[in-house]
Amino acid sequence: MMEANGHPQDKNREMEQAWTNSTALRGVGVPLAKYNFPKDARQLGGDFTVEESARLLLRFFLFERNILRAIAGWSMGTPEFEVKVEFGRHIYYHAEAGMKIRTRLTELRTAEETTDKFQSEDIAEFFSELIYSESPAHFVAALYGVVLPHLKQAYQEHAAHTDQVADAPTVRMIRQIMPDYDEMIAWGASAIQAYIQGGYDEGSLHQWQDHIEKLLRSFGGVTNSPTSERGGGKDRPRSVGVVSRRPEKLRSEGKPTFERSFIATRDPRFGTFEDTYEYQAADNGQIEYETEFDKTRLNLIRSQRDELDAIETFGNVLYEIRDVPFGFDYDLARIIWDETRHTELGHKAMKALGYNPYDLLNRLIGIKVRTKMPAEYSLAEINLFGEANIVQECLRYAREAYENGDDLTGRMFDFVNADERTHLAKGVHWLKHIFGTDSVQEIEQKTKKIAVDRLLELGIINHEVALTISHRELAKIIGE
Ligand SMILES: [Fe+2]
Ligand SMILES: [Fe+2]
Repeated sequence: MMEANGHPQDKNREMEQAWTNSTALRGVGVPLAKYNFPKDARQLGGDFTVEESARLLLRFFLFERNILRAIAGWSMGTPEFEVKVEFGRHIYYHAEAGMKIRTRLTELRTAEETTDKFQSEDIAEFFSELIYSESPAHFVAALYGVVLPHLKQAYQEHAAHTDQVADAPTVRMIRQIMPDYDEMIAWGASAIQAYIQGGYDEGSLHQWQDHIEKLLRSFGGVTNSPTSERGGGKDRPRSVGVVSRRPEKLRSEGKPTFERSFIATRDPRFGTFEDTYEYQAADNGQIEYETEFDKTRLNLIRSQRDELDAIETFGNVLYEIRDVPFGFDYDLARIIWDETRHTELGHKAMKALGYNPYDLLNRLIGIKVRTKMPAEYSLAEINLFGEANIVQECLRYAREAYENGDDLTGRMFDFVNADERTHLAKGVHWLKHIFGTDSVQEIEQKTKKIAVDRLLELGIINHEVALTISHRELAKIIGE
């Protein structure tokens, strides 16, 4: 028995005495004259059983997973800088929503493996049509103007109609997802306007929206039920009518699985280069530096902005690697968001140093090497070579920047280093899973061979160099 704390024997006696009718039962403090605490207005009674609730949540989950993979599939083929960046952020928003739903499902008698394997023919067909959009503008118009408002509506109806007390964790989860939807839908509306102002035909975008909405309604919408999605609200889906007739012809009909772009597209504001990794060689002496530190700084800042190709590489991997647990999607999506932030940091740091970011040529060599590599090797290459290299460079630079009194970029790279450390860990975890081995060395060797072959094929190195090239040199050439 514990004797250390006071008088355990007295305490024991107190606990064993009758509680009812004792003054001790009321506890310490003031006995209240009134009980005027806030009232809980929630009423019992919901429309769903646990099974019905789980069925809907599984559909929500599959929508989220398909949305993030569809965006990933359009990352390479979307040239507009601002859109590529926003895609990178939103992929993670959808992954987070998916993860929340998947976790809630485990509490509704549905195992993660069941959720990860859940399939639906109507959802599969719907997304194969959506992804066959004829341009990034059409894709944005349909996803942000039709799919997200429908999904938002379905979420809100579910939160309103399930038992407010018994299923409160679902209600709370949906409330937490909603602000991201408001942000994404608002951004989408502005982006569609920007595409129209930029020269896209408004009628053509609306036609595609109507087509996608018609297909969605033809199978009963997000929830696959004829009575759903009838609510009001300003984000209410555009057309009226609940279940519509299926469109007569689908763009995706009779076509193979959609292929993402194999070219890393850039809008015309960018100048690019792809035959070297060295900025100074690409610049042809156009930029002058006062000190060696200035040069190192601009090189690293440019390499961050040019991690546009990291958004794309991880996007391609996410789009192409199937049959993996959702944890893979989630980790990759988070890395994509981080790479998006690195791109944004680079872009903003260029401005902070007085440059027009579009005047600084964009490096394409890394993505050109990776674009045709099988997805698992592309992941191994960027992770084991690119990120393993940049993680140290960032830390070295951050210290140098602090010593030079440049806290702005010092802190920036301090945080980037912290991000990259997590990428290394997550990447290695999934590489082992995908390659089915615990030997990182084995994955590295196989990857090195494929990357060297690709560099030879592109004429970036010759056979002599190929024979002696080191891990570090390769990492430098291809980068993150
Ligand atoms: Fe990065
Ligand atoms: Fe990274």
